[in-house]
Amino acid sequence: MPASAYRTIIEPFRIHSVEPLRLTTEDERRAALREAGFNLFALRAQDVIIDLLTDSGTGAMSRDQWAAVQHGDESYAGSPSWFRFQAAVQNLFDFPHVIPTHQGRAAEKILFTVVGGPGKVVPNNTHFDTTRANVEYTGAEALDLVIAEGRDPSSPHPFKGNVDIAALDALLAERGDVVPLVMVTITNNSGGGQPVSLANLRAVREVCDRYGKPLFLDACRFAENAWFIREREEGQGDRDVVDIVREVASLADGMTMSAKKDPLGNIGGWLAVRDEALAARCRELLILTEGFPTYGGLAGRDLEALAQGLTEAVDHDYLRYRTRSTAYLGEALIAGGVPCVQPIGGHAVYLDARALLPHLDPLHYPGQSLAVALYEAGGIRGCEIGTVMFGRQPDGTEQAAAMDLVRLAIPRRTYTQSHIDYVIEVVLGVAAHAADLPAYRIVDEPPSLRHFTARFEPVPA
Ligand SMILES: Cc1ncc(COP(=O)(O)O)c(C=O)c1O
Repeated sequence: MPASAYRTIIEPFRIHSVEPLRLTTEDERRAALREAGFNLFALRAQDVIIDLLTDSGTGAMSRDQWAAVQHGDESYAGSPSWFRFQAAVQNLFDFPHVIPTHQGRAAEKILFTVVGGPGKVVPNNTHFDTTRANVEYTGAEALDLVIAEGRDPSSPHPFKGNVDIAALDALLAERGDVVPLVMVTITNNSGGGQPVSLANLRAVREVCDRYGKPLFLDACRFAENAWFIREREEGQGDRDVVDIVREVASLADGMTMSAKKDPLGNIGGWLAVRDEALAARCRELLILTEGFPTYGGLAGRDLEALAQGLTEAVDHDYLRYRTRSTAYLGEALIAGGVPCVQPIGGHAVYLDARALLPHLDPLHYPGQSLAVALYEAGGIRGCEIGTVMFGRQPDGTEQAAAMDLVRLAIPRRTYTQSHIDYVIEVVLGVAAHAADLPAYRIVDEPPSLRHFTARFEPVPA
């Protein structure tokens, strides 16, 4: 019988090179927290035991990616590495214009500098924080139109990243003249790593066609999204992931990409578009801010690693292991009584801190409190996705975010099952005394993207 038919899903790779982990003590971690102003982004990475801050750029490259690095050609213009990269991108996403950037937000910055501006409105299922910031920085409004189930952490809907089609239709009917494009994030990171169905993407395309609007994908986790389509959507179970990815791309007019996620890179991104005039305007900005159009913000060796990574990202054994191993963590935590966003997403498990810490008002940052406690207890670094990240409004007021979550993002091919068993033990231990976790307040914050650099302190009970 095939290995995939056994109950135990194994890592479809073996370890070739190892990195030591420093096993810190609780006292060391308390001191590190104080020094970091209780902001986990400010910790030194060597003080973290299991780093689940993000799945972005933290994955392990394969032997074949490292070999590809050796083929990197660093010619300023027209490098063969560029052509290999472009071909690998276009093999999956058939956009004629591929514009390489150093990471996803650089692609967003270029796109929204061209299409954004005061008075404009950009709809998305849920904007990721950098996408929102790049839209708002131009003076435009970033509007989240995810389906109602996508805002309910306990809803078992299989495609909670779906766009609310009626809401999108209404927006375009009422204010279509100020909407430069429609964006869909696959998978929906800020909404819990939830996928978007093919049927929903086709419906978004149909609405965009009716109102003459371009559709753009924020496609960082395109392969995980395609795997969920294959697994969960009727009639898709026999399709090759590559085939699904190509169909998804064919529905869109362009994409932004952080290649630090599914393409298995440690750095990289791109913007790709069908429209030639738009591509020309974007390339002008690319040259100003990133680099020449055949390398953008990347070295030839990065382009090579990404070209190879794109072939590995759509491998079925890899995607089965990837989604199952994330679900393994989520299922163990749910079985232990920890409220999590369900179903478990592709790249992360999202703990519902608001439900676990009901004694804390959202403006006392339950997600921050839980994230700090996980680090203190076991050296696990997660990421608050809630009122710290989204609470500050463009007019300066503060509001509770839709949810207060702690994201435990799983770097690709990096940790083994015993690392994850350790995480399960630590989270269950912290959850058992969740009622004792303190409120936090912000003592210092920057004007935007405050979660990266704000400093906090616990509020005495
Ligand atoms: C959905 C989504 N969009 C955009 C980005 C931004 O990409 P980058 O971090 O490469 O700038 C991220 C990164 O985390 C993301 O998850």
